[in-house]
Amino acid sequence: MTAYVSLCQHLTTHTYRWLVTGAAGFIGSNLVETLLKLNQQVVGLDNFATGHRHNLTLVSQAVSPSQWERFVFIEGDVRDLAACQQAASQVDYVLHQAALGSVPRSLEDPITSNAANITGFLNMLVAARDAKVKRFVYAGSSSTYGDHPALPKVEDAIGKPLSPYAVTKFVNELYADVFARSYQMEVIGLRYFNVFGPRQDPNGAYAAVIPKWLSAMIKGETLYVNGDGETTRDFCYIANTVQANLLAATTSQADATNQVYNVAVGGRTSLNQLLAMMQRVLLPHYPHLASFQPVYRPFRAGDVRHSQADIGKARQLLGFEPSHTIEQGLQEAIDWYMKSLV
Ligand SMILES: NC(=O)c1ccc[n+]([C@@H]2O[C@H](COP(=O)([O-])OP(=O)(O)OC[C@H]3O[C@@H](n4cnc5c(N)ncnc54)[C@H](O)[C@@H]3O)[C@@H](O)[C@H]2O)c1
Repeated sequence: MTAYVSLCQHLTTHTYRWLVTGAAGFIGSNLVETLLKLNQQVVGLDNFATGHRHNLTLVSQAVSPSQWERFVFIEGDVRDLAACQQAASQVDYVLHQAALGSVPRSLEDPITSNAANITGFLNMLVAARDAKVKRFVYAGSSSTYGDHPALPKVEDAIGKPLSPYAVTKFVNELYADVFARSYQMEVIGLRYFNVFGPRQDPNGAYAAVIPKWLSAMIKGETLYVNGDGETTRDFCYIANTVQANLLAATTSQADATNQVYNVAVGGRTSLNQLLAMMQRVLLPHYPHLASFQPVYRPFRAGDVRHSQADIGKARQLLGFEPSHTIEQGLQEAIDWYMKSLV
């Protein structure tokens, strides 16, 4: 039995109180859904900066009425300390996801990204410290590797950040470390690598590549590839990311806390390979994709060329074992994509 299976069994009969910030977003709403299905009590905090009420409606439809009753939603901003304190009250575990994602967004408006991602993070840490939570788990990012050339990425070897967004995620790690040392908090950072799955927003200038491309393919619109398509990423299905969060929050292994972990699958997939995979998964439903051709355009500023995680540390210390490859993730989410991206 994997560590995650045994954790899920434990949680179904032991109820804790969790705070998920960014609960109306992609990753946050998936965390809320999984926790409610495991009969947990969940507080959600979000200001709808990039998240959607509809995501919470979908969660309410995915869980039973009695599970949904265990969810409390607070509309609030992590830049507001009082909102963070209200949300963290009586909480056992914090899963801090609220932030403004996207490298280009941060290049265009670094001040707003800084406020949500650094001031908001510090507020949540202070609120969690004062509420004496058992553990504070937060969404880090592979962007912290910056210009470090090594592949695969190992947690200890980071380079210079390549964007304001990467700076914010690196500062999160610095604050987390200092709070762990100074206030004896238990803190774990999870460096996510290109997460995808249901409820990831396909719209807007800062949409992630998988929902944006699937949407273009389904609608028969022009699909743009930034660069030559040989840029690589370690795409990670949302179920793997949820698993890492729950394991990090609850691990009882002493040396597993006050650490950062890569959360990915450990693969290295080029954008051209990803396109071929998407085409394969969608083709049975959309015959027009048989003749599909993308349009290549210049590279985007601030993007790293290659990204691949070494997930050995998460495997060893957290018992993390990815349940889905990229293609399995795309297959599992295909119904959602077909319903939502039209
Ligand atoms: N999706 C990825 O591939 C990926 C990769 C690396 C890191 N991350 C990190 O994971 C976390 C979740 O990302 P996501 O992909 O679910 O994005 P998302 O935009 O869907 O979710 C972020 C949520 O945070 C909320 N939020 C933003 N600013 C807030 C504020 N000031 N106060 C309260 N709520 C606020 C948004 O409304 C949104 O619901 C973020 O911290 C992001 O930086 C994501």
